[in-house]
Amino acid sequence: MQKMISEFPELVGQEVIIKGWAYNVRSSGKIAFLQVRDGSGFVQAVVVQSVVDESSWAAATEVTQESSLSVTGEVTKHPKQEGVYELQASKLEVIQKAEEYPIGKKEHGPDFLLDNRHLWLRAPSQWAVQRVRDEIIAATYDYFHEHGFTKFDSPILTPSACEGTTELFEIDYFEERKAYLSQSGQLYLEAAIVSLGRVYDFGPVFRAEKSKTRRHLTEFWMMDAEMAFVEHDENLKIQEELVSYIVKRVLENREAELKILERDVEPLKKVQVPFERMTHAEAIKILREQGSDIGDMDDLGADDETMLTKMYDKPIFIEKYPAEVKAFYMKRDPEDPTRALCADLLAPEGYGEIIGGSQREDDYDELLKRIREYNLPEDAFSWYLDLRKYGSVPHSGFGYGLERLVAWICGLHHVRETIPFPRMINRLEP
Ligand code: 4AD
Ligand code: MG
Repeated sequence: MQKMISEFPELVGQEVIIKGWAYNVRSSGKIAFLQVRDGSGFVQAVVVQSVVDESSWAAATEVTQESSLSVTGEVTKHPKQEGVYELQASKLEVIQKAEEYPIGKKEHGPDFLLDNRHLWLRAPSQWAVQRVRDEIIAATYDYFHEHGFTKFDSPILTPSACEGTTELFEIDYFEERKAYLSQSGQLYLEAAIVSLGRVYDFGPVFRAEKSKTRRHLTEFWMMDAEMAFVEHDENLKIQEELVSYIVKRVLENREAELKILERDVEPLKKVQVPFERMTHAEAIKILREQGSDIGDMDDLGADDETMLTKMYDKPIFIEKYPAEVKAFYMKRDPEDPTRALCADLLAPEGYGEIIGGSQREDDYDELLKRIREYNLPEDAFSWYLDLRKYGSVPHSGFGYGLERLVAWICGLHHVRETIPFPRMINRLEP
């Protein structure tokens, strides 16, 4: 019967068929060892000339790396390695014999691998990254469903900017007006909370910034959450609960994948509530003590974040940034109106910002003032201002960048490996 490799622990002693691909092939005289993957896992199939029929042996000798195949055989435990299984083949059929595979065993540079992303995705490391990504997505959905949130799908084509006008992708299609690709679904979620209370969206967003850093993509996946009657402090509590839940789920369900990635899991085990908290002012003080020349009201740069996160084991919330470096919709701190009631969450081990969030301005006049100060088109925001006219309430929300979370949890240097087909200023293909 056809089975998946992931089911092998329950199938020892049974005869099964698996269908997949040979990712490594080696033979020594009368025995061939085929490393086979089927999407669910990896296994070594052992083909012995004296055991199999002639056509199976011929297949075993001609099979090339990445050929697709079907193997029948008995599942056995590896004689020496605990928890490892093998397939003792009785029959082998090649479905398609692969041409010489361009990705070899030697080291390739990142550009070559990215040019061949459609093939590179098959590498065990890339399989592992996508499996961790999937677990993070599933854990996010589960967390929200268990905590009374409703998923709400924000639009991607929008008439206005959410985060800032300098990073917008313009679209010329709609009659008489420009449209833009969404930078975040947040503003639409703010309409949704008045109907549904607590909501979240999860989808692709677009940033036309010209950054070429290890943390920036042009197209990436964002999860935004928004909650009615939640103020700044509670917003942070929800974020730390969600993030620690996600990390726990990956540790529980993706152990084998983290091992393939050679991820040291000890730092991840320390990701437990409560996270570290400091104000932007405190962060500036620490950075200066470390020799930085950062100004009092400057935004934190990537290097500043890296420096801070290397000093602590846990993720850190940096609260109350200067309002002028943050988005127009953030509510001001009543104790110091030059600062916003916001926080960025920085991941440890040098990873930096994974979440941006804030309490939102819920007063009509204040919000209108901000829209004017930021030179935003009032008419495009009239619906958003309406929300402050009909039953406005204190509310807060946050958004995580999925690729930043995946990079941190997998221990990857660059976010480009975390998304199936990365889009960056210098890469649109494949
Ligand atoms: O901090 P950002 O810009 O916040 C917002 O868009 C809010 N509207 C979210 C909200 O409150 N609902 O983006 C949120 C997160 C960042 O913390 C970062 O993890 C990720 O999105 N991010 C990027 N990831 C990859 N490439 C980029 N160019 C990114 N820009 C932001
Ligand atoms: Mg941000």
